[in-house]
Amino acid sequence: MSDKTTGLIHHPYVPPAGFEAPQPGVFKASTVFFPNVAALRSREWKDKTGYTYGLHGTPTSYLLEERLATLEGGAQCLLVPSGLAAIATVALSLLKSGDELLIPDNAYGPNKALALGELKDWGITHQLYDALDPQDLARRISPRTRLVWLEAPGSVTMEFPDLIEQVRICKAAGVTCALDNTWGAGLAFSPFDLAPQDGAGQGVDISIHALTKYPSGGGDVLMGSIITRDPQLHIRLKLTHMRLGLGVGMNDVEAVLRSLPSMALRYREHDRTARALAQWCQGRPEIAQVLHPALPGAPGHAHWQALCGAGEGMAAGLFSVIFDARYSAAQVDAFCDALRLFKLGYSWGGPVSLAMPYALGSMRQPWPAHLARGTLVRFSTGLEAAADLQADLAQALAALG
Ligand SMILES: Cc1ncc(COP(=O)(O)O)c(C=O)c1O
Repeated sequence: MSDKTTGLIHHPYVPPAGFEAPQPGVFKASTVFFPNVAALRSREWKDKTGYTYGLHGTPTSYLLEERLATLEGGAQCLLVPSGLAAIATVALSLLKSGDELLIPDNAYGPNKALALGELKDWGITHQLYDALDPQDLARRISPRTRLVWLEAPGSVTMEFPDLIEQVRICKAAGVTCALDNTWGAGLAFSPFDLAPQDGAGQGVDISIHALTKYPSGGGDVLMGSIITRDPQLHIRLKLTHMRLGLGVGMNDVEAVLRSLPSMALRYREHDRTARALAQWCQGRPEIAQVLHPALPGAPGHAHWQALCGAGEGMAAGLFSVIFDARYSAAQVDAFCDALRLFKLGYSWGGPVSLAMPYALGSMRQPWPAHLARGTLVRFSTGLEAAADLQADLAQALAALG
């Protein structure tokens, strides 16, 4: 080396192979080196036989993709910068002008907003279907329907749909169905094998997951995944993923890899706390309705029971309450402001419990018959002790006036 600067970069030392430790190595790259031109020309970037460019993955992101595909029972996985990016990538990949998509009436709001915004501008129409009535979904499928979104349960009003029947309807009509599986997290049920006991093994075509929630578990990472079992569908999504330039940062991938081993334990704890608090809220005179799919009588409870109810059953740490109509929205705001342990903030799945008031009237029109009238607050239980969270709710209820 004639120059020390070059020597700093082209240094001959190679660490010995054979290092093994609990956490995998973190490989970061935009540029990936090729040993020669022939290797560059022959490298296949659409599968995991090699590396081409950081946007298409490094050993670190390949590993997370494989673990997530295994978790959800799929075969391929794409990582994207957020859960919403996963929703948008599916829509942009599968829909073109003249097509229609169907979205459940209780879907994650930004999914509907995408349909009302860019998709509408591009000549793609949508209809909302009744998440609790599979026949309503069946009636709305037409030759123009190219994508059906499924969500179990709806992320604010928590109705659990008859997912098996919804998937059966989509398959019979030959329409691709994509599930927002953030709530189930690959733990509460298997999206690609919804009815293994029937021998049908029927499952969704695509499962998207906001890794931002339980897989990250820290409230500090944004990421999403798109999981499939069909290699052709995966390649179609991957081409869109490539053309949109959707990369993820390897430090974030590392954070998710580090959190994944504890996810099932955390999920059970979030679940236990949410169920205890939801049951307690049912006994409170200020609250007209508690929405949690594991509570008998909650909308869609029987479908939750059928899919996730084995043993104690599994559910995420989310529930909503509708305050009695005698309380104004301002009084419910005062309740939220009085909370101390529950913080006000979007998202869920992290260590800190969260509360969020929603104006249901602007989200669902007309007001669904199965929901009490009143202001809704959604809670995401963190990892604090349930008794402390219950005391926090009790002291804040006093602020209702
Ligand atoms: C059900 C559901 N899907 C998707 C998302 C989007 O995830 P992200 O915040 O990573 O975009 C969220 C976020 O709150 C969600 O609740």
